[in-house]
Amino acid sequence: MKEMILRTRINVCSYDELSDADKAVVDAARAATANSYAVYSNFSVGAAVRLGNGTVVSGSNQENAAYPSGLCAERTTLFWANSQYPKEPVEVLAIAARSAQGELELPITPCGACRQVMLETEKRFGNKMKIILYGTRQCYVIDDGVRALMPLSFDSDSLE
Ligand code: THU
Repeated sequence: MKEMILRTRINVCSYDELSDADKAVVDAARAATANSYAVYSNFSVGAAVRLGNGTVVSGSNQENAAYPSGLCAERTTLFWANSQYPKEPVEVLAIAARSAQGELELPITPCGACRQVMLETEKRFGNKMKIILYGTRQCYVIDDGVRALMPLSFDSDSLE
């Protein structure tokens, strides 16, 4: 039997080390947490994307009394961006979160369903997105696209 080792490269930095353009996307994600509808979890997530034309749009998690009917911030944002700007690739996606205690020191990472939607977005536009996960103490920056967060992923290639 052969071993297959899968590696992920994540750059760890502080908010101050980000470029001004990336800070703007992170700031939009942080601000979007204020618009979260998280009455059941009290966990507010914001996401923001910068598109190929420079537009930054954001979204937040929207919960529902029938729990599975809610949607994460990442998918809310990507579906909104892709439906409003169907020709603009997503170049950067930033994610931020706050609990009842305030902003989190360490980043959260997107759930599996959101990673799958992020992958579809990359496939759709033919580019890798930069993913910035914000924490007050540390940020994680992933430059290699969503596959870094989801090795052995399933996409349209698998259907051929
Ligand atoms: N949530 C997100 O919006 N994004 C994530 O990456 C993880 C979880 C939301 C879903 C739910 O509204 C709340 O956070 C608690 O899971």
